[in-house]
Amino acid sequence: MNSAIDRVEAMLDPNRVGRDPERVHGYIDVLAPEGARPTGLSNAMMHVPALAAVYEKAWRPAFTRLFSLGGTGTLSLQDVLIEDLATRGDQRILDVACGPGLYTKPLSRRLTGDGIAVGLDVSDPMLRRAVRDNSGDRVAYVRGSALDLPFGDGTFDTVACLAALYLIPAPRIAVREICRVTRSGGRVALFTSLETPLTSVLGSATAERVSGFRWFGRDEITGWLRDEGMVDVKQTVSGQGQFVTARRAQAPQAGG
Ligand SMILES: C[S@@+](CC[C@H](N)C(=O)[O-])C[C@H]1O[C@@H](n2cnc3c(N)ncnc32)[C@H](O)[C@@H]1O
Repeated sequence: MNSAIDRVEAMLDPNRVGRDPERVHGYIDVLAPEGARPTGLSNAMMHVPALAAVYEKAWRPAFTRLFSLGGTGTLSLQDVLIEDLATRGDQRILDVACGPGLYTKPLSRRLTGDGIAVGLDVSDPMLRRAVRDNSGDRVAYVRGSALDLPFGDGTFDTVACLAALYLIPAPRIAVREICRVTRSGGRVALFTSLETPLTSVLGSATAERVSGFRWFGRDEITGWLRDEGMVDVKQTVSGQGQFVTARRAQAPQAGG
């Protein structure tokens, strides 16, 4: 079997990469230089090597607890979700905005055969950390943008995007891209922020503009998924966070 990085390189859609794929620091970079600039303070922080170094062990658990205020345990809901998404067999799983790969590797743990979990992110410090801390036989990392995923339509069985849509500058486009690369019958799982009475105190329009951090309305993400033709859309709310899962509708049988 070829290495995971060879296999992910073969999965790239040449018409959707911003430059010739280049292997750097153990991951594949397909991002054109102009696609690399972070927007907003929260996104810029994700490019700071010191934050990437403490992200998995300290930053993410603390942040997730903040999300849980007034709700049930977001951390445990997340564990249940990862357990459910970590499917057995020859599956292709994409972790969009994977950060240091803290969920990419667990998502790969039951894969066999040609199964692969691909982590994609724009941040070089995050990806270097991912390669260092969360590599595996069926794990590979790509530097690319959620706004223009470098894969063809229907490439993946499962696509996750956790704790990232709220700082991606055009989240509606990211959701469209996530749905596009999911095969028919495949699954999408999102964890993101939710507007609540507490966040409307914290999150004025000015604060959102400066921080680049956004709170989504109750029906915003679920509505976008339905607009993309996704079915079985389910939302679980916990504090200021929401988990949303959906399925891409099965394509009609030819001649049926
Ligand atoms: C808060 S971290 C989330 C990491 C991980 N998914 C998790 O659940 O902890 C958000 C990540 O989104 C990435 N990101 C922001 N904008 C992106 C974009 N346009 N495309 C891909 N990744 C992006 C950042 O670099 C950062 O690593």
